[in-house]
Amino acid sequence: MVTSNPFAELSSFIPATVMQGWVVLMVVFVIGGTVLDMIHKGSAKYFFENAKRAKKSAKRTVGGGEKVSLAVQTVANEVLTSSEFANPRRRVSHLFTMYGFIIFVVTSVILIYSEQTSSLVPLLWHVGALMVCIGGYWFWFFIRVDVFAEGNPWYRLVRADMFIVSLLATATFGLIWSFVQSAGAGGLSRLFFALFAIAATFLFSTVLWSKFAHMFFKPAAAFQKRVIKADESRENLPADYDLTDPQVQAKYPDIPEYMGKNPPNMGLGIKREAPNHY
Ligand code: HEM
Repeated sequence: MVTSNPFAELSSFIPATVMQGWVVLMVVFVIGGTVLDMIHKGSAKYFFENAKRAKKSAKRTVGGGEKVSLAVQTVANEVLTSSEFANPRRRVSHLFTMYGFIIFVVTSVILIYSEQTSSLVPLLWHVGALMVCIGGYWFWFFIRVDVFAEGNPWYRLVRADMFIVSLLATATFGLIWSFVQSAGAGGLSRLFFALFAIAATFLFSTVLWSKFAHMFFKPAAAFQKRVIKADESRENLPADYDLTDPQVQAKYPDIPEYMGKNPPNMGLGIKREAPNHY
C-alpha cells in the first residue's frame, strides 16, 4: 500500500488533467489568499512602516552583510528548526507538522503530475501524511493552549482552528483513502477520496481567513525581530538591565531605594509558573 501511487488508480474515474488543473487552482488560491490577506489586514504596509519607525530609533546601523547574516540565522533557527517555541513539546510537534506537510505537498504534486514514479515517492507521501497526523493530533489533544492551559474540551471549535482542522482532515482522509483503495473497497475508497479532496480544497481555499499564511509571514517577522535587536531600537522597549550595575542604579535611583544595592535577578515573571488549567 505505502509504496503505490494512490493517485494513479484515480485515472479510471477522474482524468489526470483534472487533478493537475486542481493543483494549479490550489496554487492560485494560496497566492491569492495570501495577497488578499496582506491587503485586507494592511500587514505588509504595517510591517514596512514599523520597520521604518524602528530604523529611526535605531542606535546603530545594521549593514548589508550583517542583514544577510541575520537572514541566514533566521532561516537556520526560526524557519528550519522552529526555534521560536520555548515549549519543547510544541517545538517537536511543529517540526513534525511542518516537515510532514512540506513532504506531503511536494510528493502529492509529483504523484499527480507523473504516474510513473519510483516506490520512494509514494512512501514519502504516506510518511509526510503520517508526520502531519503525529504532530497535529498531539498538538490538538494535548498541547493547544485553550485545551492544555485553559481547560477547554478538545472538541470545542473556533474559527482560528480552520487551519489545523482542515490540515489534519486532509492528511487523515488521504491516508484512509489510500488504505481503503489498496484493500480493494471501491465505493468506500471513492467516499474517502471525496472527503480528502474536500478537506484539501478547504485548506487551500480559506487562506484569507485561516492561519495558513503564517508560514510566509512568520519568517519575515522573525527576521525583523532580529534586526531590531541588532540595531538596538528594540521597539522602544528597555534593555535587559543588570539591576546590580551602579550605572543602571544611577539612572533609576528607585531601584536601590526599593530593592537594595544588590537586587536579585528574578528572571522573567512569565516563566515563573507554567500555565495549567487556571
Ligand atoms: C509547512 C509549513 C508549516 C506548517 C504546516 C505549520 C503548522 C503550524 C500549526 C498547525 C500551528 C498551530 C496553529 C494553531 O494555533 O492552530 C503553527 C503555529 C506556529 N507556527 Fe507554523 N507551520 C509551518 C511553517 C512555519 C514557519 C516557517 C514558521 C516560522 C518561521 C512557523 C512558526 C509558527 C509559530 C511561531 C507558531 C505559533 C504561533 C501561533 O500559534 O500563532 N510555522 N504552525
